[in-house]
Amino acid sequence: MFKVVINFKAYKEATGNNAVSLAKACKFNNVIVCAQASDINKVSKIIPTFAQHIDPVDEGAYTGAITAKSVKNAGARGTLLNHSEHRLPFEVLKLCVNLAKRYKLETIVCARTSREVAKVRGLNPNYIAIEPTELIGGKISVTQAKPGLLIDCLKSAGRIPLLCGAGVHSREDLETAKKSGLKGVLISSAVVKNETPRKKLMELLK
Ligand code: G3P
Repeated sequence: MFKVVINFKAYKEATGNNAVSLAKACKFNNVIVCAQASDINKVSKIIPTFAQHIDPVDEGAYTGAITAKSVKNAGARGTLLNHSEHRLPFEVLKLCVNLAKRYKLETIVCARTSREVAKVRGLNPNYIAIEPTELIGGKISVTQAKPGLLIDCLKSAGRIPLLCGAGVHSREDLETAKKSGLKGVLISSAVVKNETPRKKLMELLK
């Protein structure tokens, strides 16, 4: 099924009590949200939830770390990794993916180019997400602006399901992604910053 992943980032509209309201607004089939670590416990009772990141350490003396075990215990089903706003060196990313697997968390690993897609494919994540940095937070969707990139990334991803994100904001963007063979989209500002997020998602999903 085509996945719609809503990244809450650290937006005020998606933090604390607002995260809970937004999670309720996002409650539709096949919608997953990526919540801040401190909100996973509450949000995951409402909707399937991924962490936005985990650190490359297991339990132990790691002050301030967000561990795979802690997000799993809080209710996360998976974790986003290597987002453009939280890039990881490849060896660190590898450790994080392995820790996620150890704690049975699904992984969405982000990449910025088709070369990076080919590289992270070797880590065997559950999903790869292509997000061109320059389009993140804007009004021009990756599906409109970079159809060639999507085709290249599909080839590079091989059998790993590919998602795309950056600037996705319309029903047409979702249709284009589907038609191109992608298995889902990541969306943030178009929903999180919308005054009526549920209405916006309904419009995107209908
Ligand atoms: O992870 C999704 C995100 O980076 C895309 O952001 O605001 O362009 O939908 P936005």
